[in-house]
Amino acid sequence: MPTPTARVRDCERSSIRVMFDLAQATDRDLVRLEVGEPDFDTPDHVIDAAATAAREGKTHYTSNAGIPELRRAIAATLGREHSVRVDADGVLVTTGGMEALHLAVLSVVGPEEELLIPSPGWPNYWTQARLADGRGREVPMSPETGFDLDADRVIEAMGPATAGVVLCRPSNPTGRVYDADAVRAVAEAAADHDAYVIADEVYLGLTYDGDARGVAALVDDADHVLTVGSCSKRHAMTGWRLGWLAGTAPVVDEATKIRESTTACASSVAQHAALAALTGPQEPAHEMYEAFEQRRDYVVERVAETDGIDCPRPEGAFYAFLDLDLPGTSLDVAKRLLTEYGVVLAPGGGFGDAGEGWLRLSFANSLDRLETGFDRIERALADA
Ligand SMILES: Cc1ncc(COP(=O)(O)O)c(C=O)c1O
Repeated sequence: MPTPTARVRDCERSSIRVMFDLAQATDRDLVRLEVGEPDFDTPDHVIDAAATAAREGKTHYTSNAGIPELRRAIAATLGREHSVRVDADGVLVTTGGMEALHLAVLSVVGPEEELLIPSPGWPNYWTQARLADGRGREVPMSPETGFDLDADRVIEAMGPATAGVVLCRPSNPTGRVYDADAVRAVAEAAADHDAYVIADEVYLGLTYDGDARGVAALVDDADHVLTVGSCSKRHAMTGWRLGWLAGTAPVVDEATKIRESTTACASSVAQHAALAALTGPQEPAHEMYEAFEQRRDYVVERVAETDGIDCPRPEGAFYAFLDLDLPGTSLDVAKRLLTEYGVVLAPGGGFGDAGEGWLRLSFANSLDRLETGFDRIERALADA
């Protein structure tokens, strides 16, 4: 029997996926709060732009780096919204933020090298490091500071094997917007080690409190910063698979070279959709932002008034990381909440050891469903 490589065998299935599959397999009424994507549909003007582009025959391969007008629009958006200065030449349009991360990790992490991951952190970073024949190394952050970035811990973990540090800001799963001084300290130390900061900023457009400048804008010299962004969360475009990698040559040039052999280019129709999302009317994006902020406020209120539940205040993204007074591992608790109470959360243990004992709730769902979800969680707490 042919077997896949160790590199592939070593990669684990995410526990978010496990919950997703369990939820799909039941026909009872569930409140699905494990899902990491906006519940809104893509704005109409974006869909219209894509349909027009398709009808006009813009259905061919584009250059590997993407269409020039979109690269310019991404550079302008990064400057205007996040104070990140980058030339259009330094922007590679990718198939979602996911491909941008994959290319960034492949470009900077070599065999046996390490990608430092402040945790709790998004599980895909470990897989991406492993696919590069390197390894993800968890650096646990502390619940006492709401899992804010502890620069000393990250810097202490740096050594000769360190090739990169991923900073997800706002964080999935905690919603934390890492403190700007801590980010600066980590980025400077990384540059001293000739390591890169991979700034995963797919949620940066959904920052409610705190500093929405990008990591590249917070440092004096952004040579060692690679910025990853996406239309997915901010513009409700997860299915279009449109993101970007931005930074200075040589990494972005090299990533552009290897993407010839990954996806060749992002979907041409999706690139035209993204152009409309970034340069067209911004009202739909503002309305979604306001809805998310309102839901964030609701979650904070419910957590504050309920005994046996706590969470660091989510400052961005659409996640709350819950500390629930319920016995068992986070996977046990998540399964029990699903089967006995009909509410689905993602087990925190899937986000690294630092996340064990916690559960991630996504508030990318209507206020009504959130209310029902919290009622069910309260019932579980009352029964415990
Ligand atoms: C932290 C984080 N980074 C990157 C991504 C990738 O998003 P996309 O590929 O849809 O742009 C996600 C998606 O859930 C995410 O949560």
